[in-house]
Amino acid sequence: MSSRRSFRGVSVRTLLGLATLGPFVAAGPCDIYSSGGTPCVAAHSTTRALYDAYTGPLYQVKRNSDGATTNIFPLSIGRLADSTAQDRFCAGTTCVISIIYDQSSNLNHLAQAPPGGYRGPEPGGYDRLARAADAPVMLNGTKVYGVFISPGTGYRNNTARGTATGDQAQGMYAVVDGTHYNSGCCFDYGNAETNSQDTGSGHMEAIYFGSCTFWGSGAGRGPWIMADLENGLFSGSNPKRNAGNPSISYRFVTAVVKGGPNKWAIRGANAASGPLATFYDGQRPNARGYNPMKKEGGIILGIGGDNSVSAQGTFYEGVMTSGYPSDATEDLVQADIVAAGYAT
Ligand SMILES: *[C@@H]1O[C@H](CO)[C@@H](O)[C@H](O)[C@H]1NC(C)=O
Ligand SMILES: *[C@@H]1O[C@H](CO)[C@@H](O)[C@H](O)[C@H]1NC(C)=O
Repeated sequence: MSSRRSFRGVSVRTLLGLATLGPFVAAGPCDIYSSGGTPCVAAHSTTRALYDAYTGPLYQVKRNSDGATTNIFPLSIGRLADSTAQDRFCAGTTCVISIIYDQSSNLNHLAQAPPGGYRGPEPGGYDRLARAADAPVMLNGTKVYGVFISPGTGYRNNTARGTATGDQAQGMYAVVDGTHYNSGCCFDYGNAETNSQDTGSGHMEAIYFGSCTFWGSGAGRGPWIMADLENGLFSGSNPKRNAGNPSISYRFVTAVVKGGPNKWAIRGANAASGPLATFYDGQRPNARGYNPMKKEGGIILGIGGDNSVSAQGTFYEGVMTSGYPSDATEDLVQADIVAAGYAT
């Protein structure tokens, strides 16, 4: 009996070791989600291709000197963004990131966010575009650039297709800079309203990262990974403070939020090493309006659903899926992120 039990223990650990710590996983995050039965419906990154086979453009930069634009592609080896193409194109002037392409077949690209409940600082109330060279980072030893969101900066797609609507299930992750945040609303990535207005509780389901305490919060002083579900940032089922949601102190953070009918979860990790931990996994918040959800399927980056533009942060990569990803699938995605090699 006891030897049989320990045999089982060893074999489970060995299988887990092979799955998560193998020498090289020849698949990108979206290949992994696809194998798990929850394919990406949006995949955004200025640092690398998120499918093994993706060879299309990662992002577009626009030059301030003459307004010209060019697309930045992944290098053929290692799927990393060709940052030297950006440096050449922007030499002697500055550039902004004008489009972050969706690598999924839905083509849910992110562009300059339009005005909504709040107006951005640019003409017509549009949000600012990120300066293209403000968030350099090393990925597997090669320099690439993240998306540096200062207050007033935001990206959006109000006509996305294939994203979760209503109470449909979805998963999301984002890799962000854990040291660049503030308490403003709201450095988000994920599912939001399609008219840039606050249309009510439960009309969003996006990842939030920062130290805002106006709605929910976690242990310590933050920053925290929370979910922006509209009219509230949530860290668990209690709409206010949940001690199980820890303050984050990693330079590189993997933030995970997923949601389905009356269930959702928050998970997080050091994006440069180790596994994901689960900070919350349970029923929808104990507050009116979040069960069932009324997701609209728009996509935001760096702003709130009503175009609140007070937050700051840095985004490196992120995806949205169709269906509720298993923890095991997300654990493999985290292993891929760690293997990608984020470093300063
Ligand atoms: C938003 O996504 C739709 C659907 O894929 C696409 O047709 C559109 O071009 C995208 N919008 C922007 C601003 O890129
Ligand atoms: C990192 O780069 C090395 C070569 O410098 C390469 O062998 C390895 O496969 C790369 N790792 C990833 C995850 O791309």
